[in-house]
Amino acid sequence: MSPTARKQKSPQRADLVIVANRLPVDRVVHADGSTSWRRSPGGLVSALAPVMQEQEGAWIGWPGDVTEEMEPFENEGMQLVPVSISAQEYEEYYEGFSNATLWPLYHDVVAKPEFHREWWDSYIDVNQRFAGAAAEVAAEGAVVWIQDYQLQLVPALLRELRPDLRIGFFLHIPFPPAELFSQLPWRRQILEGLLGADLVGFQLSGAAQNFIRLVRQRVGHKTHRDSVYLPDGRMVTAKAYPISIDTTAFEKLAASPEVQERAARIRADLGNPRKLFLGVDRLDYTKGIYARLRAFSELIHDGHFSVEDATFVQIASPSRERVDQYRILRNDIDRLVGHINGDLGRIGRPAISYLNASFPTSEMAALYVAADIMVVTPFRDGMNLVAKEYVACRLEGDGALVLSEFAGAAEELRQAYLVNPYDINGMKAQMLEAYLADEKDLSKRMRAMRKTVAEHDVAYWASAFLADLGVERPAHHKQVKPARRS
Ligand code: G6P
Repeated sequence: MSPTARKQKSPQRADLVIVANRLPVDRVVHADGSTSWRRSPGGLVSALAPVMQEQEGAWIGWPGDVTEEMEPFENEGMQLVPVSISAQEYEEYYEGFSNATLWPLYHDVVAKPEFHREWWDSYIDVNQRFAGAAAEVAAEGAVVWIQDYQLQLVPALLRELRPDLRIGFFLHIPFPPAELFSQLPWRRQILEGLLGADLVGFQLSGAAQNFIRLVRQRVGHKTHRDSVYLPDGRMVTAKAYPISIDTTAFEKLAASPEVQERAARIRADLGNPRKLFLGVDRLDYTKGIYARLRAFSELIHDGHFSVEDATFVQIASPSRERVDQYRILRNDIDRLVGHINGDLGRIGRPAISYLNASFPTSEMAALYVAADIMVVTPFRDGMNLVAKEYVACRLEGDGALVLSEFAGAAEELRQAYLVNPYDINGMKAQMLEAYLADEKDLSKRMRAMRKTVAEHDVAYWASAFLADLGVERPAHHKQVKPARRS
């Protein structure tokens, strides 16, 4: 529906509403104690910003570590609507049900999911609050797009309150096979929550098929291919929309003199190794950081190369630090890195440079420019945007990507050195192959991957989803971007 078709809406009501656990801004505290908001890094916001500005959009989300209640405010042409979460809800809804129940369950039970009834109650309460906020903000007939696993009940709760809306949902993480999902005591409620949407998007078509099968088995609705037929005559579509990055923004950053200089500096500070390996992850047990560092250290230990030949930079940004499994992982990695450097390092030449910190996007781009071999080895990952960011930053078409076949990105980036992260010897073999590869082979692979990432960027992703939800796209949001030279 075009915005002009709805004239009577009150001015704060929005035609397009995004609902996500987090607002797309971070609070900055200045030296004088005053605070302001800065747009968070990440493709989702930059992809949606133009369409949000055009459609008088609103974004509903949790503002982060803010304890006081906050009024809606405006930021870069977007209305931001904060939803507050109490300390107890933070523990039960966010750390508990979202990140100690759903997160491990949806990632192949890489860690054991915990099931607690009070966590579930809190998840319902917070989902209700988000649904209530969306119901208040959305204009008559608006489009509401709900994001990710923290908010799977919102589609149905919102439809109850506002049957006039068009509702989309996108799951950024994997959706597990029925055999694993069925462990969840509240499996039927989650499926029914998602079925409140008109369109349910997943990263991969396998995930959409898992969902359709579960709906048939556990809820008993009729399904055909990607459609679910509800008894009230409504139809829900479940399809794959692989998310991507703001490719042009990364290319521009990588080409900037500051980033180029910083990349050279990083290599010099590391003693100009022949080959620089790089890992960049949230410190999460799904990412396979431990296994990859072991594989790298064994290559040195076995004599394939020395610490002068190759070094590994591992950036691990702190995440969900009070959740047990994350605490355990942090200690395990600390110990492993100490062990490896103690055994294999020389003075001024550690085998692994490990940084447990977050960095701005420009520093990430410099690391991508500096690195010869990017190692992305999750045990399970919805997509993994780091893999795509690395490819976007390889302006010369060089560099190697070692990529887990269990990352969603592996479906598109077929020319990567694909690995099974459970197979340490297999991973060593692929890392060594990437280390020894000749320039011609590397360039052939990288150029093919660059074409994929150039054609399918995050704007393409957002416009494909919104088009299927019936949103008219602004002219500059074309479906298919022309391929650029890579
Ligand atoms: C994943 C999830 C996001 C989440 C992000 C960071 O990418 O799909 O929904 O926001 O991790 O995790 P955090 O718990 O810090 O929001």
